[in-house]
Amino acid sequence: MFAKFCLVFALIQLACAQQPFDVLVEFGTNFSTLAIETQNEISELYNFNGEIVREFNRELLLELGRMVPSMREADLSFQQEIAAADGVDDECREYVEELRELFLIFQNWDIQDCAYYAHEELSEDSVNRFLPYAITFLSENTRSISQVVQSFARNNAVSDLDALVFELDGEWEYYQTLAVSFGDFLFDEILAHADVADRVYLDLVECSETALELQIADQEYILSYLDNNCE
Ligand SMILES: *[C@@H]1O[C@H](CO)[C@@H](O)[C@H](O)[C@H]1NC(C)=O
Repeated sequence: MFAKFCLVFALIQLACAQQPFDVLVEFGTNFSTLAIETQNEISELYNFNGEIVREFNRELLLELGRMVPSMREADLSFQQEIAAADGVDDECREYVEELRELFLIFQNWDIQDCAYYAHEELSEDSVNRFLPYAITFLSENTRSISQVVQSFARNNAVSDLDALVFELDGEWEYYQTLAVSFGDFLFDEILAHADVADRVYLDLVECSETALELQIADQEYILSYLDNNCE
């Protein structure tokens, strides 16, 4: 009878001894599952971010690509106009040609400036938005994998298991909240690229229109020399 009682008591003790280990393993599994899921989510966002940045760059490049042929066309017809001008001697025509070449350098600078400002703004945005936060989030998320071991080291699991479980519960809440709120935050960071890209694109269009207007003004100025044979 007494031996039976002892056996039951021993089994209960064993079960009790087993329980803390189970709960810790469960926490460990939960933490690493969440960490992997979160990491996958971050890497999806990372790829999405890269795609968006590439797409905006491509659109800017297309706009710059449109600028070049229109300015080149304007220059071609300008050259024809110089060649066809009446009542102008060779000396004057040559002088006007030189002026044209000089102004062409400035017109090239105008396009380069447009590209430069667009690049500056866009690259600053693509470096400073999303990426630094994603890296911070990744390292914080990775920390969660070793959270159980870390809490185990901080707490006395033998004499006060409740405190350890309590701490792990708190950390579990923290990482779950972190996963959701940081995921949202990173997504918003990606969307915010669009505002900058819109602005940069509009600035670029305006810049290229101004460059074209300047080119026409240059040409009108140069043509005025032909009116009176460069006198
Ligand atoms: C582990 O995750 C499961 C499923 O989400 C949950 O039911 C369980 O309570 C979690 N365990 C701990 C110790 O937090």
